[in-house]
Amino acid sequence: MQNLPIFTTKYTKWYYKDMGDDCMDKISKFFGTYSKGDGYQHFFCPGRVNLIGGHIDYNGGRVFPCALEFGIYGAGKLIGEEKLILRSINMNSDIQVDLDDLEYNANHGWANYPKGIAKEFMDRGYQLKGMEIVYYGNIPVGAGLSSSAAIEILTCIIIDSLCNLGLDKLEWVKLSQKVENQYIGVNCGIMDQFAVCMGKKDHAILLDCDTLEYKYSQLKMDKHSLVIINSNKKRELASSKYNERRTECQEGLNIIQKYKDINNLCELNILELEKYIDRIEKENVRKRVIHAVTENERVINSIKALEKGDLYLFGKLMNESHDSLRDYYEVTGYELDTLVEEARKCEGVLGSRMTGGGFGGCTITLIERDKIQDFEKRVKEKYREKTGLNADFYYSTIGDGVKIL
Ligand code: GLA
Repeated sequence: MQNLPIFTTKYTKWYYKDMGDDCMDKISKFFGTYSKGDGYQHFFCPGRVNLIGGHIDYNGGRVFPCALEFGIYGAGKLIGEEKLILRSINMNSDIQVDLDDLEYNANHGWANYPKGIAKEFMDRGYQLKGMEIVYYGNIPVGAGLSSSAAIEILTCIIIDSLCNLGLDKLEWVKLSQKVENQYIGVNCGIMDQFAVCMGKKDHAILLDCDTLEYKYSQLKMDKHSLVIINSNKKRELASSKYNERRTECQEGLNIIQKYKDINNLCELNILELEKYIDRIEKENVRKRVIHAVTENERVINSIKALEKGDLYLFGKLMNESHDSLRDYYEVTGYELDTLVEEARKCEGVLGSRMTGGGFGGCTITLIERDKIQDFEKRVKEKYREKTGLNADFYYSTIGDGVKIL
């Protein structure tokens, strides 16, 4: 993959707002309670947003995510017994399990993520020791900002460090995706785990999900900002719908493979799409294939636009991405569509789209920085009027991936 040019980042700052002004105080307090003096080591894993390239990571496409500055903090230490003690401060929950009893248990809720990761390490032959791990996060759970990838990758770094295993970071990514697919049962692609693990301050990552080649790209946004808006719509049935989309894509791929030797839908270009699309009879499958191929083209065109510093074209492609996710992929829903529609009506907005898996969750909007105040006021009001829900606005800088603190 070609090198992307380096852009200035002087004004790319995002910052927290609805996360609570005292959130950094709470985190210091957390690390004060589980302190290094008491033998705990400290870790952090961020959430992520995807700027463009929706639902094509599992179709061998290109995606363009970046890590956020908020996420999940962890404190971990070895204990004498062959046990995992898992605590979540946010959930006010403590779970204890023996290292030889790590099967999925619906009653364990959130703790299945770290349990699954520990089990996967052991299934691969790594020797684990008993550990206590305490989690505390400032990322909204289930909002499509990858809280699950964050807890998975965070658990990887903690287990790896405490047990001195020395795996490559990419192994954590693959291992976590496997846990999500097989232990948790969500057939996700590799984007989220990759982004939260490999993220780099002030950079988005152009990731080719077929080859796992990637390039960091600094964003030039002297007068613009990216705003994340949480629809606060519960993502009901999101995982079963997600798995359904994957099956539909596979069905489309199976048909096209009769005519062309490809491994992934995103190997097709637009001309080839036009050539083969009528071979697919089912309308839903046809629509999913159209989205996958055109979305991949949009990512490629976005990179070209950003290389030229053309944020207007990038914004337009963000809009087209959302419209395709709404009309062809059918993963948006009334709340996300309303947020995007209202955002686009505001002065200074270049583009707005859903981000993440969809069916609720968050949108991301590219906007002229000096228009943000009016924008926030107007979108909040209109959204409440139309859906009865309150939207939360998050501003964050682009942060680093998982790290030891
Ligand atoms: C979820 C999945 C990712 C990706 C996105 C949609 O976040 O975990 O793998 O498919 O949805 O782009």
